[in-house]
Amino acid sequence: MSTTSLPHKPRVTRRVMAAQPSASMALEAKIGEMRAAGVPVISFGAGEPDFPTPDAIKLNGHEAIDTNLTKYTPAGGTIALRKAIGARMKADTGFDYATSQIVVTNGGKEAIYLAMQALIEAGDEVIIPAPYWVSYPEMVRLADGVPVVIPTTAADNFRVTPEMLRAHSTPRTRMFVLVSPSNPTGMVYSRRELEAIADWMRGNDALLLTDELYDRIVFEGEYARWLNVAPDLKDRTIVINGLSKSVAMTGWRIGFAAAREEYIKAMGKVQGHSTSHPSSISQHAALKAYTANLDAEIAKMVVAFRSRRDWIVDALNEMPGVSCLKPEGAFYVFPELTGLYGKKLKYGGPFNSSAELAMYALETVKVGIIHGEAFGAPGYARMSYALALDKIQEGVARLADAFSPA
Ligand SMILES: Cc1ncc(COP(=O)(O)O)c(C=O)c1O
Repeated sequence: MSTTSLPHKPRVTRRVMAAQPSASMALEAKIGEMRAAGVPVISFGAGEPDFPTPDAIKLNGHEAIDTNLTKYTPAGGTIALRKAIGARMKADTGFDYATSQIVVTNGGKEAIYLAMQALIEAGDEVIIPAPYWVSYPEMVRLADGVPVVIPTTAADNFRVTPEMLRAHSTPRTRMFVLVSPSNPTGMVYSRRELEAIADWMRGNDALLLTDELYDRIVFEGEYARWLNVAPDLKDRTIVINGLSKSVAMTGWRIGFAAAREEYIKAMGKVQGHSTSHPSSISQHAALKAYTANLDAEIAKMVVAFRSRRDWIVDALNEMPGVSCLKPEGAFYVFPELTGLYGKKLKYGGPFNSSAELAMYALETVKVGIIHGEAFGAPGYARMSYALALDKIQEGVARLADAFSPA
């Protein structure tokens, strides 16, 4: 037998080559390496609550193991969990969602990925407002769709208007992605703003994907939920939600999509041939998350996030050259850094991009922030305040030092 073979030339698909890796995960990896080398980095990069998963949920995880709920479940999730999610959808929207209209996924991320794979045809356009969550455009590209990005700035409160939507829509517009509260800006659309978007939607035949991962983390006023504002558009709405952010369950990987049966069936087909379903243990834990009353635990997190937000927004606005809107939800701030451009700063510069400023902060004062370019918004940076207040204060003091004039 010959052990020689033709030389193998590595080749990956063009569609994957064109996709960008996640900037937040790349930052966390770099920070991990620095910490391993003993460098005391403070990271504002994390996209996850710093609170533990509530005990009642963890107990169900143990129970799943102890009672041998460790086998395959139905693709799309257990019937019990889909029923519990249906009850949550009923409470949130007033609509009945049958188990055939819900697919349980590996985090909200898989739900969005499945929606793109099942509903976006090659060449279909998907409207994505920027600053955007990093995975939306990549998922559209991985489905051979075309992301159509609408840039917004702090002057727009990082929100799109029907005029912007009209200017970016074409006969190929297949979907609009709405995320409120937003990652990375923390902005929340008001009922009136959503009503205006609904009016625009009524003039086309596009799908609307509403990403509601942060719906429990809202600081002011009543949360305006898309289906409550536009119930008549339910048939072309894909609701995405999950437990990662609202009950601190990022690592358990539980999310879901709810939509009309044809769409869920199509998404289920993709899931059936890829991941099958999320872990049986996580699904049993999630059942508790959807059936127990966790209002007190969630309120505790929201109160902590809110006081950190108030502190960090004020502190950032005190830095010369930095300005920051006050977000109404999630756990991110999105300060503008263009006021620092072209200036000699204490340890270096001048710099002319937020990417350079983020690198400068990491290298000099060992603080991790994510450059706005990663979110389609040069000139800004994302900072998560899902870390203890003393760490936030220390990190912001270091940034103020680095960003002070030479
Ligand atoms: C806006 C938004 N949607 C979806 C997700 C995905 O969440 P999960 O961890 O449940 O997959 C995230 C996570 O960062 C997010 O910020």
